[in-house]
Amino acid sequence: MTVNIQRVGVIGGGIMGSGIAQVCAVAGLSVVLVDISEAALAKAVAGIGNSLARLVNKGTLSEEQRSAALARIVTAVDYASLSAAELVIEAATENLELKLRILGQIGEQVTAEAIIASNTSSLSISQLATAVSHPERFIGLHFFNPVPLMQLVEVIRGLQTSDATYAATSAFAQRIGKRDIGAGNRPGFVVNRILVPMLNEAIFTLQEGLASAEDIDTGMQLGCGQPMGPLALADLIGLDTLLAILQSFQEGFGDPKYRPAPLLKELVAAGRLGRKSGHGFYRYG
Ligand code: CAA
Repeated sequence: MTVNIQRVGVIGGGIMGSGIAQVCAVAGLSVVLVDISEAALAKAVAGIGNSLARLVNKGTLSEEQRSAALARIVTAVDYASLSAAELVIEAATENLELKLRILGQIGEQVTAEAIIASNTSSLSISQLATAVSHPERFIGLHFFNPVPLMQLVEVIRGLQTSDATYAATSAFAQRIGKRDIGAGNRPGFVVNRILVPMLNEAIFTLQEGLASAEDIDTGMQLGCGQPMGPLALADLIGLDTLLAILQSFQEGFGDPKYRPAPLLKELVAAGRLGRKSGHGFYRYG
């Protein structure tokens, strides 16, 4: 088992995958970012460039660090490009069948020593591990949005995960400048288990007409010291992602307390997915 991770593969150039690729590259690692189309990859690289530029403007990063980080990221549409990676992080859409298929494809390309991790926010690590040929080297590595700014990652062991894989993954998280916590393999792990029902409750509160979206958010910001209100945060996470997480809680725990607010379902059905679609509880752009 190698613990010296220098080359990382990231599957999925969405908000989370792009952010993960970015923080790995800033930390000096070589990154292969894989998505299904050149258009998706171009969008991901543009997003990373934009985020790095904000960090330069803020003085967090130098111009040299920005260009060096960008130069460490290569993109690919095929999984063969993952063959040299010591760690591959899957950050595709939150869908069990899709993730199982992708993990199987990753497993066919990487060396027997490589660690495969999933950034799933709610699916079972033990179940996802069944898609790869070395489940002892499979683990959950859950980042938070926006990845370049949020310090935390959760490291989640499945039933099959070895101690060596856990230790190497925890060391990797620290190597890229994150603080890691260990979390058990239950839907939502620790942070989303607590956060997501709160966001759902904020949507029920809006649906019941108790206050406007702006007042609900102001209430939680000024009354509870939250950096952004729950509806703005739901828009940032993506309303489709939030709905998928709630549905996996409902199924995983069999407890009706996790039922998604009907308003959330309706917004997703209408294509109002939050920031990424330009419109959720608020309008963007
Ligand atoms: N990359 C680089 N810089 C960024 C950025 C990004 N993606 N997003 C924001 N910034 C920078 C901005 O440029 C800004 O810089 P200045 O201070 O120089 O102006 C700074 O961050 C602050 O941004 P804003 O002024 O726009 O807004 P803010 O002060 O509210 O901070 C925030 C933004 C850091 C996101 C803050 O609101 C926050 O911490 N929100 C809570 C986020 C949160 O809870 N995330 C977890 C979501 S749950 C999850 O991800 C798990 C899951 O599975 C669903």
